Amino acid sequence: MKPIIAPSLLASNLANLSEEAGRILSLGADWLHIDVMDGHFVPNLTIGPPVVKCLRSSLPKAYFDCHLMVTNPMDWVQPFKEAGATSLTFHIETTPEESQFKELILLIKEQGMKVGVALKPSTPVSDMLLGVLEENLLDLVLVMTVEPGFGGQAFMPETMSKVSMLREKYPELNIQVDGGIKLENASTVAQNGANVLVSGTGIFNQSTPQEVIDQMKDTVNKAK
Ligand code: DX5
Ligand code: ZN
Repeated sequence: MKPIIAPSLLASNLANLSEEAGRILSLGADWLHIDVMDGHFVPNLTIGPPVVKCLRSSLPKAYFDCHLMVTNPMDWVQPFKEAGATSLTFHIETTPEESQFKELILLIKEQGMKVGVALKPSTPVSDMLLGVLEENLLDLVLVMTVEPGFGGQAFMPETMSKVSMLREKYPELNIQVDGGIKLENASTVAQNGANVLVSGTGIFNQSTPQEVIDQMKDTVNKAK
């Protein structure tokens, strides 16, 4: 699978968000990971559609990988579409009903965006998730490697069994990991089958982010 490195903008200097986003793209980032938190689903507040809209006007071509950590993702599909999101990943824990889960996936696709489903560390790969994967409805599954809510937490290796199980079943699926991803654990996640690596502090807090991005890509390529 193609390596995709998606720096989490949350770890950048948010006072200069658009410059930071442009800089990290010029250093080799593939996607910009935008963490959206509503203060309900997680105990933190971050970025919403107005900020994404401004970023879009300064970066017309960038891939905005929006990770929605919000209680009512359905309410935010249209606003994020209008703001210029490329893809929306919502949490499966917010849509326990299968009909609603599928409706949301289809709505995001109808709006012309890519769609991903995220799992908290303790959320299993359910039959409901496998069902939509069998129907080929998803562009990405995000296996959270920390509890969502804050950057800078420690990677949870116990989440890797979900990654390897998904990779075995779906060789072509984009499998994303997010939380505590650094160069030192990139080979662990890649060997388990992750190809989309989100990294906040592991990229922005380093003196040579370009080298980190390059080496993360190499690590995913070598794990094949
Ligand atoms: C956590 C977010 C992550 C996080 C990544 O809720 O979804 O994207 O900001 O930051 P690091 O890589 O520092 O854990
Ligand atoms: Zn995230």
